[in-house]
Amino acid sequence: MSKTEVGFNEQHRLQYHFSPKEMWMNDPNGMVYYDGEYHLFFQHTPHTSTPDFPNMHWGHAISTDMVHWKELPPAIAPDEHGAIFSGSAVVDYNNTAGLQSGKDKTLISIFTYSPANGVQNQGMAYSNDRGRTWVKYENNPVLQNQGIADFRDPKVFWYERDQKWFMTLAVKDHVELYSSPDLKFWTKESEFGQSIGAHGGIWECPDLFSLSDGNGAEKWVMLVSINPGGPNGGSATQYFIGDFDGHKFTAEHSDIRWLDNGPDNYAGVTWSNVKRRKLLLGWMSNWEYSQIVPTNKWRGAMTVPRELELVKIDGQTYVASMPVSELNTLHESKGLKAGLALNSSVDLAETYDIQPSKFDLSFTIENKPFELKLSNDDGEYLLVGYDLGNREFYIDRRRAGKTSFSDAFGRRNTAKRISNDGNIEIRLLVDVSSIELFTDDGEVVMTSLFFPNSDFTHLELSTESKTTLKGFEINEMKSIW
Ligand code: FRU
Repeated sequence: MSKTEVGFNEQHRLQYHFSPKEMWMNDPNGMVYYDGEYHLFFQHTPHTSTPDFPNMHWGHAISTDMVHWKELPPAIAPDEHGAIFSGSAVVDYNNTAGLQSGKDKTLISIFTYSPANGVQNQGMAYSNDRGRTWVKYENNPVLQNQGIADFRDPKVFWYERDQKWFMTLAVKDHVELYSSPDLKFWTKESEFGQSIGAHGGIWECPDLFSLSDGNGAEKWVMLVSINPGGPNGGSATQYFIGDFDGHKFTAEHSDIRWLDNGPDNYAGVTWSNVKRRKLLLGWMSNWEYSQIVPTNKWRGAMTVPRELELVKIDGQTYVASMPVSELNTLHESKGLKAGLALNSSVDLAETYDIQPSKFDLSFTIENKPFELKLSNDDGEYLLVGYDLGNREFYIDRRRAGKTSFSDAFGRRNTAKRISNDGNIEIRLLVDVSSIELFTDDGEVVMTSLFFPNSDFTHLELSTESKTTLKGFEINEMKSIW
């Protein structure tokens, strides 16, 4: 199909990130891999491009590579128990819930019911046809509110050691852990978080999973999204590293850590049922202005999928995230691997014949300040760089186009470097109205939206003094639509 038939060529429409064809989208939900397909459900109101919370559905898209997506009709709709808020999905391999009816394993989603009175409960739905149709469980809700209205976003995982299910649930200012033999009856195991981490806002969308630390040892990671109270204002996702003993999660550090320091990555959680990789994507927006960003036909996009790993820096373990390798299939054949001698400034778009509204750039630079300037002929520009004196990366979107829709949008956002290594590694993904900066192999990440009045046509890279960039590679990205 041509682009015009599909639509997806509107101003600001991302060309290689998932966004719904039309209307509102927020959090990713129910991410599960089954039978060769990645499922991505999402918070969606099918008839409004601003969130109509009482009418919140689970939208649905599928992909075989997390890059090319096919949007399907909304999967789960509100009912007498309330709107369908965020949650997760699992494959019930052992038929613990007894709901399997054919040869396919049952996919089970656990989500929050948000009723008109705001007192939230958890509900369940299941699919015996590879996620195409969903039936609500007859005895919903499966977990009743304990007296705190903010009681939501169940993320369920199978705990192999004890052969049972666990659920993390966000309860106002902490996470509660529940266990279950069958996904239907849940027992509270423990609480985490009242006196640790960032508390500038309410806790939402937790996720608990194990990762290998590269030396064969296993650590547990707890993700917690928080709104507001993020490092650059509004909503953001923090993480904790620690241990889970089959009842309780304990963090091994007391400092606050962010999965992404930029303003526009929220509510990200990992895919269920993916062996050997931990894959995540987030909602590429911020509750401070998500409802009024200047896209009207649709509102909301996801980040690129990212693979999570543990890394050690000065004896401390951190979570690093990098774009999944599947994205490389979108590279136009302009890729170039070499050393690039840089003498003050070069326009990369002109030199390599790149359309700088959608590209993937990587290089390694000595520990020096540098700046990339994306600009158009209307005098609008976006700045991305490293400030050596303050040891911080920045994305400055103050003059990058439309900002007046919100006071919270037109800012220069920063993130401290963690690594003390001499060289700085940069990977930068730009897609029409989004930028994702991965530094030092994903130790510090920044995701940001921007809305230029016309596409950027120049991409200038400058440094204060002569240097040679190593591993330089730039590729225009193909559209997925
Ligand atoms: C996070 C969130 C969740 C909630 C959903 C409602 O962005 O507020 O806590 O379930 O969005 O759409």
